[in-house]
Amino acid sequence: MKSNPDIHSLRAGVIGTGFIGPVHVEALRRLGITVAAICDVADLGARAATRLAIPQAFADYRDLLACPEVDVVHITAPNRFHCEMSLAALRAGKHVVCEKPLAMNTGETARIVQAAQAARRVFAVNYNVRFYPAVLAMRERVERGELGDIIHVNGSYLQDWLFKDTDYNWRLLPKEGGKLRAVADIGTHWMDAVSFILGAGIRSVLADLATWHKTRQRPLGEVQTFAEADAKVRYAAYRVQTDDFGSVLLRFANGARGNLGVSQVAAGRKNCIRIEIYGSKKSAWWCSEEPETLHFGSRDGANETAVRATAAFGAGAAGLMDYPPGHVEGFPDTFKMNFRNIYTAIAGGPGERLFATARDGHREVAVCEAILKSSRCRQWVFV
Ligand SMILES: NC(=O)c1ccc[n+]([C@@H]2O[C@H](COP(=O)([O-])OP(=O)(O)OC[C@H]3O[C@@H](n4cnc5c(N)ncnc54)[C@H](O)[C@@H]3O)[C@@H](O)[C@H]2O)c1
Repeated sequence: MKSNPDIHSLRAGVIGTGFIGPVHVEALRRLGITVAAICDVADLGARAATRLAIPQAFADYRDLLACPEVDVVHITAPNRFHCEMSLAALRAGKHVVCEKPLAMNTGETARIVQAAQAARRVFAVNYNVRFYPAVLAMRERVERGELGDIIHVNGSYLQDWLFKDTDYNWRLLPKEGGKLRAVADIGTHWMDAVSFILGAGIRSVLADLATWHKTRQRPLGEVQTFAEADAKVRYAAYRVQTDDFGSVLLRFANGARGNLGVSQVAAGRKNCIRIEIYGSKKSAWWCSEEPETLHFGSRDGANETAVRATAAFGAGAAGLMDYPPGHVEGFPDTFKMNFRNIYTAIAGGPGERLFATARDGHREVAVCEAILKSSRCRQWVFV
């Protein structure tokens, strides 16, 4: 394992202890970073502190921000709190790692970009998909021109955890998650990763979004992300105003065209992200369900499959992988490597900053707004 002593003096505080907060805690600890404090509403923070052996717990996030033992604040609460918490954390002089999407709309994300710039603190958005070794490897191949000019990019991000009309989460409600759901929640991961690989942002979009369950049943009481349905729960019907699935055509700044499918009602697909890059010399494709293998396609030569951490895989993920080939690195490792990159930047350490910034987070929300507009007016929309 590589050690990076510069980052070990930094201490983290995490706001939100549902699905992803504990993933942050685990990744930080694997890097040897102390998690000094945690926060959630009512007694949830104290319960998580006991479960995860964290010394300080708060029920109000402002108390965590006032805590001198916290240098970096991780915001893992629902989307509607991201703006308020980000601005307050920057005002308190903290560095920030905020979950995606950065905030509810571009009005909010623009304020965060401005505040992050003025505060001269590191502000990262947790687009962790960038840190799959295969994504880093594809980025390096594109940068070196090995695929040639990029003709088009195809792919999808598919899940099934909102497949049933009784599946419930705050993300289904526009006032809690934002006006877009599948596209903002998982589609932005794909769009961020592809823009990162190509080194080119999305210029315009043509979208077709749809809601399969126009009415859903909401359990009376709160439900955590990915929680199983309970037979004894009572439900109330509500109208759904957010997208269950969608298709988006994209045009990138480098002239490449893209085609993205997104769904949270794709039975059997638990968390499947697929990226296929077609260049004028070669193509490369990868799927998160088989994270260790990267495929290369040729018109005349044999297609190739490269195993992670071998010479054939390339050096794009150097320093951001810890295990030898055959010892699978997956979802939790992307958090660890993203945080290694972010904390190294905070510590003033060497190396390229690969993590998504506030500006990247702002851009993804701007793309979401263009997608929503396009889906409504049925026309191409510039970002
Ligand atoms: N990068 C990823 O792969 C990834 C994966 C899942 C979720 N996320 C993002 O993380 C965020 C949280 O999602 P989740 O799935 O963990 O949701 P969740 O509902 O499972 O957990 C959210 C937690 O925040 C707490 N909370 C709510 N209001 C709060 C407040 N005012 N102060 C402190 N805590 C508060 C809730 O009580 C809950 O425990 C979302 O923005 C989501 O998009 C990112």
